[in-house]
Amino acid sequence: MKGNITFTILKPDAVKNQNIGNILADINAGGFRIVGMKYTRLRREEAEAFYGIHRERPFFKDLVDFMTSGPIVVAVLEKENAVEEFRTLIGNTDPQKADEGTIRAKYAKSIDANAVHGSDSDENARLESSFFFAQSELFTEEGGVQISYP
Ligand code: TYD
Repeated sequence: MKGNITFTILKPDAVKNQNIGNILADINAGGFRIVGMKYTRLRREEAEAFYGIHRERPFFKDLVDFMTSGPIVVAVLEKENAVEEFRTLIGNTDPQKADEGTIRAKYAKSIDANAVHGSDSDENARLESSFFFAQSELFTEEGGVQISYP
C-alpha cells in the first residue's frame, strides 16, 4: 500500500528568492496538508548525512555547499500516495526538463539550485522526516501524530 506522507525541503534558493509563500500555496493547491514545518539551516555534517547516498557523486561537494548556504524550510506533507504525487507536483530534477506548471519549472533556475526536495520512497519519507522532526511535532488532520518511525 502507498503511504500518505512525504518530506520536502524548500532549498536555500527558494528562500533567498522569496518563494516560500508561492511554493507553499502550490503545495496546498496540490492537495497536500502540512503535518510539520520548520525554518532552519543545515550544518555541514547534517547536509552530508542527509545526502549521504550521493557521497561518491561528482556534484556532492557543490550540493553540500549549496544546501548549507542559507536557511531552508523543511516540512512533512500528507496526501494519499504522497511520495509519487509530490514528485509529479515538483517536476524533473532539472528544471529545463520539468513539465510546465511544476514547482521546479516555475521557481528553479538550474539542476543544482532546484528550489525543492521531495522524498523518493515511503521509507525515505519516514527517514527524512525523522531527521528533522520528533513525532510530537507532527500533526495530522485529526491533530494527532500518526507517523510511526522505524
Ligand atoms: P537526485 O536525488 O538525483 O534528484 P531529486 O532531488 O529530484 O530526487 O539528486 C539530489 C540532488 O542533487 C538534486 O536535487 C540536485 C543535486 N544534483 C546536482 O546538483 N547535479 C546532478 O547532476 C544531480 C543528478 C543532482
